[in-house]
Amino acid sequence: MPNRDLDATWKYHNGTKHSYLSLRVHPHFLDWENKPLLFKIYPTLEVTRLPKDFRQTGVAALSAIASPGVARQGEILPTLEDVAQLLFFSAGVTKSRKFPGGETFFRAAACTGALYEVELYLVCKDLPDLPAGVYHFGAAEFGLRQLRAGDYRQIVIEATAGESAIAHAPLIVVCTGTYWRNAWKYRSRAYRHFGWDNGTLLANMLAVSASLGLPSKLVMGFVDQRINALLDVGTHKEVAFSMVAVGHTSDAPPPAPVVGPLSLPLVPYSKEEVDYPAMRQMHESSSFTFAEEAAAWREGTLVTPPASEKGKLNALQPLPDPELPPDTIEQVIQRRGSSRRFAREPISFVQLSTLLDRATRGIPADFLDPFGSQLNDLYLIVHCVDGLVSGAYFFHREKKQLELLKEGDFRKQAGYLGLEQELPADASVDVFFLADLPKIIATFGNRGYRATQLEAGVLGGKLYLAAYAQKLGASGLTFYDDDVVNFFSPHAKGKSAIFLVALGRGATK
Ligand SMILES: Cc1cc2nc3c(=O)[nH]c(=O)nc-3n(C[C@H](O)[C@H](O)[C@H](O)COP(=O)(O)O)c2cc1C
Repeated sequence: MPNRDLDATWKYHNGTKHSYLSLRVHPHFLDWENKPLLFKIYPTLEVTRLPKDFRQTGVAALSAIASPGVARQGEILPTLEDVAQLLFFSAGVTKSRKFPGGETFFRAAACTGALYEVELYLVCKDLPDLPAGVYHFGAAEFGLRQLRAGDYRQIVIEATAGESAIAHAPLIVVCTGTYWRNAWKYRSRAYRHFGWDNGTLLANMLAVSASLGLPSKLVMGFVDQRINALLDVGTHKEVAFSMVAVGHTSDAPPPAPVVGPLSLPLVPYSKEEVDYPAMRQMHESSSFTFAEEAAAWREGTLVTPPASEKGKLNALQPLPDPELPPDTIEQVIQRRGSSRRFAREPISFVQLSTLLDRATRGIPADFLDPFGSQLNDLYLIVHCVDGLVSGAYFFHREKKQLELLKEGDFRKQAGYLGLEQELPADASVDVFFLADLPKIIATFGNRGYRATQLEAGVLGGKLYLAAYAQKLGASGLTFYDDDVVNFFSPHAKGKSAIFLVALGRGATK
């Protein structure tokens, strides 16, 4: 079973680290003439437009992101309008910007390089106004293209070895990653971005789903080939990465129709595509061949003993519920956009506390059982937070306390760690995600690496939303891997750098 050959994770992770030297020894220049198309388009399939006149849920964004999810019981079928709302606020085009020679379409969730390599597919039973089938979400047209007619959920249930939320889901959203669409800019590191970019999208989807009163659960344990064959994606180019069970039904699905190849034509992404085999190797090494592997996957629980405390502790002081900003999840998603510059102005400790508290209350996922368990640890560099001494901190998630690791002004170091960019130096606070990879992959196998990247993306996406809900700014960032770990050591010794989000007050350029 390749998932247990743990060298694969280290080969990929170490081989895609950024360092001061690697960026200079292996510089990469973008071939703008060959930039991939930002959308997957099946030119021979008719598109059914989705409705856009959504009802407002009225749920405050800070409540939505902190929701433990809706109880799974009875018949909870998403309507076509619900489906449209879920898709729009997670992967829909929310803004466009013209530039000389073209136009860029920005989506609901942040994405590395605005390349949007994550595609969404639906597998559903008959829903109000949507016949059973397998569909691709066309973000460009905001519509659905039917790939298969009929109820294929049984295939997904078998692929997940009968995972309970999937087994009772009237709708399953499958998220894929398309290598070239992100590798054009980021080369082999793009496989990490599958987790990050899929994660920010899922932060939105889980929050909107809870606000619509729909149960949802993130599932990563499935037999890869069965799902890829159902979607008929060419696995050399595109692979299923995660899925979300939405809604609840007690009816068992009928036996699925036979899954044959579709061989549908696609609009090419670029004139030519460059293959980066390291990503495919990482994916194959973390793939499941047997349903038993999917069943064993969700038995895995990462046991993390509480971290010892040596430094001064600061208990979070989050806003109480009645004082939360009322801005709804829809309003916040629509105004979100990565900060392109920070103002070097303070945020308050209450704002920072609210961000951390709301973003870390748990994610309903098959690899995070019991609810509230975690793969990533949060480390902070605080530059400018009223009521909190500047310095490096470790976040004790269960106790909701920030432990001071070292005091000081680390703006210069933060700018360096965030790939020598201004954003992490100018932010009020930088949140780094570090993970104990040896322990995680010993528990989950190589697939634990996928889950670690994805969890960080979801948490990062929640931080984005929590920042914009408080009229603050945020940006995901990339980083110099080993320098980040060294900066937070000895506390972070043995961990790996996974993700980074800068938070602060946005400034106009
Ligand atoms: C995981 C992640 C990493 C990112 N890294 C950087 C970065 O290193 N530098 C940067 O300027 N922006 C970075 N961004 C911001 C993206 O460029 C931005 O999300 C994208 O252009 C889409 O724009 P929007 O977020 O305003 O919708 C990152 C975003 C994400 C989600």
